[in-house]
Amino acid sequence: MQRDRWDSRTAFVLAAIGSAAGLGNAWRFPYMAYSNGGGAFLIPYFIALLTAGIPLIVLEFSMGQSTQRGAPGALAKAGRKFEGFGWWAVLSGTIITSYYAGVMAWAWDFLAGSFTLGWADDAGAFFYDEVLEISSGPGVLGGFSTSVLIGLIITWVVIYFILRNGAQSVGKVVMITVPLPIILMGILLIRAVTLPGAVEGLNYFLEPNFSMLSNPSVWIDAYSQVFFTLSLGFGIMIAYASYMPEDSDIINNALITVFANSGISFMAGIAVFGTLGYMAETQGVAISEVATAGVGLAFVVYPNAISLLPGGAFVVGLFGFVFFAMLLSLGIDSAFSIVEAGVAALKDKWGGSKRKVTLFYSLFLFIVGLLFVTKGGLYWLDIVDHYVNTYGLVFAGLTEAIIIGWYYDTSKLRNYFNSVSEYKFGSWWDIMIKYVTPIVLTILLVTELIADIGTPYGGYELRYLVYGGWVGVIGLLIVASYILSRQRGVDDVDV
Ligand code: ALA
Repeated sequence: MQRDRWDSRTAFVLAAIGSAAGLGNAWRFPYMAYSNGGGAFLIPYFIALLTAGIPLIVLEFSMGQSTQRGAPGALAKAGRKFEGFGWWAVLSGTIITSYYAGVMAWAWDFLAGSFTLGWADDAGAFFYDEVLEISSGPGVLGGFSTSVLIGLIITWVVIYFILRNGAQSVGKVVMITVPLPIILMGILLIRAVTLPGAVEGLNYFLEPNFSMLSNPSVWIDAYSQVFFTLSLGFGIMIAYASYMPEDSDIINNALITVFANSGISFMAGIAVFGTLGYMAETQGVAISEVATAGVGLAFVVYPNAISLLPGGAFVVGLFGFVFFAMLLSLGIDSAFSIVEAGVAALKDKWGGSKRKVTLFYSLFLFIVGLLFVTKGGLYWLDIVDHYVNTYGLVFAGLTEAIIIGWYYDTSKLRNYFNSVSEYKFGSWWDIMIKYVTPIVLTILLVTELIADIGTPYGGYELRYLVYGGWVGVIGLLIVASYILSRQRGVDDVDV
């Protein structure tokens, strides 16, 4: 059977940008930046891009394109024993999609709330009491929140119908889902910077606080942001590149993806903080009093700020609609790209029709994600998000670098991607993959591990973190035993 193919190079690049630019740009990047030194955060951010982001995205594109396999199959080409590390990446993505779809479910509820102005009086009450119906802690799941469950079902139906016909239909969808959120963000940005107080908001966002750079957690945040935002360590970029012919340009595509993604993050930061500056001015308080980290930024603070816009109820509903439509269109192509990474891996391994594998995997992820739409789901989301981003993605990136750097020939891979690319990379790329990326990522993981052992994340009771850890370990063991029990290798299936 012929391997799935993108219609054009544009379709692939747009799909890669669509995967990279997601909820992580609109909500994670702005608060990561301001809580980690504002403008000074750009230094660790760009260093992380240079030492891990760019080398690894080129590595992932090259692995996918040269082997024509998803992550496990691609790593197996470097050595049969490495296949499991590809499954680790897929598993990390699996866990992330299951809650990512939950965040999109909230966005559907807020989008609907833009017509009734349900969130306009008090977005916090709307979010926590009406949408989430939040319980008292992670130990109290308390059944499902019906509106979030409906949002989750909509999200999964959309993902399934986009993916079931493969790369060709994805290529058509991304022609809309990549430019649309950029246009919507442009509208929000222009509105934001023309509001009174916007300049103070932007100063708060970007004013450099260089003293923060001596804090290791700022560097950890920069690296984990780069992994999350560039969709590295999920197996996505490997799967997407495997649908390109082997002689397609790699470096150009990778750099376009990286810079477009960063540009979208900056746009989001300016739109969000310009609006927060206006909110602070209207309420006569300092911006630090209105700004917040985490999900509250997109689902509480920003809608509250929109509800203060001049022009009456219609304008508030309209800008609310634009914002949540932007979040949904930004998030959907990231969500389905993570699912596709799993579909590619499963199909490489066991064959089967694209539709069946997509249906099976989407249903599986929907069921796993039900945890996050319970009334205690937000707490679980917070815990799982922290652990899987750090240990799942960063560990996957670290193993990719070590396997290619030490058990495969970096110069061979570099010769390959240089031979198909217009711009060429020098031997600095080999040094990054062999030494710099593994060293930096190891330091990062060890520092984070020490911090996590010392203080349980987020002040949750230790037992919930232990339960969360066990769920992950048992999941891994089930997947591993299933894989080991099969005799067929990834290479035995026609693709
Ligand atoms: N790269 C995706 C995002 O930033 C996962 O949301």
